Amino acid sequence: MSFISHLECSATGATYDHDRFRSVSDANAPFLVRYDLDALKGGVSKDMLAARAPDMWRYLEWLPIPGPDAIVSLGEPMTPLLPLNRLAEGRVFVKDEGRMPTGSFKARGLAVAVSMARSFGVTHIAMPTAGNAGAALAAYCSRAGLRSTVFCPDDAPETTIREIAFHGADTYRVNGLINHCGEIVAAGTEQVGWLDLSTLKEPYRIEGKKTMGLELAEQLGWELPDVIFYPTGGGTGLIGMWKAFEELAAIGWTGDKRPRMVAVQSTRCGPLVKAFDEGHDEVKEPWENVETLIHGVRVPKPFGDRLCLKVLRESGGFGSMVDDDETVEARAMIAREEGIHLSIEGAACFVAWRQEVRSGRIKAEDHAILFNCASGLKADLPPVETRIDRTRPIDYSRFL
Ligand SMILES: Cc1ncc(COP(=O)(O)O)c(C=O)c1O
Repeated sequence: MSFISHLECSATGATYDHDRFRSVSDANAPFLVRYDLDALKGGVSKDMLAARAPDMWRYLEWLPIPGPDAIVSLGEPMTPLLPLNRLAEGRVFVKDEGRMPTGSFKARGLAVAVSMARSFGVTHIAMPTAGNAGAALAAYCSRAGLRSTVFCPDDAPETTIREIAFHGADTYRVNGLINHCGEIVAAGTEQVGWLDLSTLKEPYRIEGKKTMGLELAEQLGWELPDVIFYPTGGGTGLIGMWKAFEELAAIGWTGDKRPRMVAVQSTRCGPLVKAFDEGHDEVKEPWENVETLIHGVRVPKPFGDRLCLKVLRESGGFGSMVDDDETVEARAMIAREEGIHLSIEGAACFVAWRQEVRSGRIKAEDHAILFNCASGLKADLPPVETRIDRTRPIDYSRFL
C-alpha cells in the first residue's frame, strides 16, 4: 500500500487532495507528494527491503502508486555504482543509469507517472522532450495501452527522435527549443484533452526519480556520499534525490550527513549556475543562444528553478558549468581508459568533478557520485575508417 497523504504546493505549502491527477498548484508551482512518514516508518524495515527484488519497486512504500497491480513496468533494475579506477583516486563512482529501460533514468520518472496516469483513467499523454524523456514516455504508454504525443526540438539527438516514434508515439519535430515544445503541449491541453506530462507540471515524475536517491543510500549502506554531480536540465532528479534524503532522514534511516548537490550545466546553457552564482532564488531571464551539445541540460529556464536552487543552497552545493569540447573529449577518454561509455551528460559530470577538484570547491578524496543518466549508445559515434582487404596479403606487422 502507499503511504501518500496529500499533495503540497512547493511555493506556498498549501495542501491538496491526491484524489485526482493534478498538474500544478493554484500558485502555478510544482507539487510535492507528501507521505505519512510515521506510518511509513512502521510499515517497512531495512531487512524487509533487503529481501526484495533488486528493482525500483522495492521502494513502493515511498511511492504514490496505489498498489502493485497499478505498476506499469518494463523491468527497472537497480543500477550499478562503477568506481573510476584510473582517472580518479579514491572514491569516485559513476551511477550508471544507462541500464534502465529505454537507456536512460527517465524510465524511473515515467514508469511512476504513467502508472499513476493510468490508475486515474488517463488515455492520452503529451510531452515536450529533449529526447530521453519522450522515449521513456512512448515506451511506457505503449506498455500501458495509452496514446502518446511527443514534441522534440528538431535538433534533438536523431536516435532518440526515432526511438520515440518507433515506440508508437505520434512524434513531431519542432523548429525551436524545449520551452517552445512545452508551449505547444500546454496550449493543446484544453482542445485535445491530453494530459500534459511536462517536467514538474505534474507531481509524480519526481517520485520516480526519487528512487535514485533511495537506491544510492541503500547501496552505500545508508551512508550518504560527500557530493553528487548531477547533469541538470529540468532538475527533477536533483529535486527528487534531495527529497529522498529528506524522507530517509525523517524516518531515521540515515544520519545527519547529506551530500552536497552539484548541478552540472554547460557554459552554453547554464541558467541555474548563473542564478546560483548571482545569489538569486530563481532564474531571472531564460538563457539566450542555447547551443550546447549536452542535450539533457538544454533548458533555458527550468519550471522548477526555485526548487533546484533551494536544493543547491540547502545542501551546501553549487552549480558548475562545463565546456562542451572538453566534455566531448572526456567522454572518449573515459570510454578508452575505464571501459565506461558515458552519455555526453554523464561525461559533463566527470568534467565538472575534475574542474571543481582543481578549483578547490571539493576535495579529491571526497566520496563523489557522478550521474550518468543515459547510455552512451544513444549518441552518434565517430566513424571507423580502418579497413582490411581480405583478398590481398595482410601485413601483420601493423598489429604489433
Ligand atoms: C541524459 C540526460 N541527462 C540529464 C538530463 C536532465 O535531467 P533533469 O530534467 O532531471 O534535470 C536529461 C534530460 O533530458 C537527460 O536526458
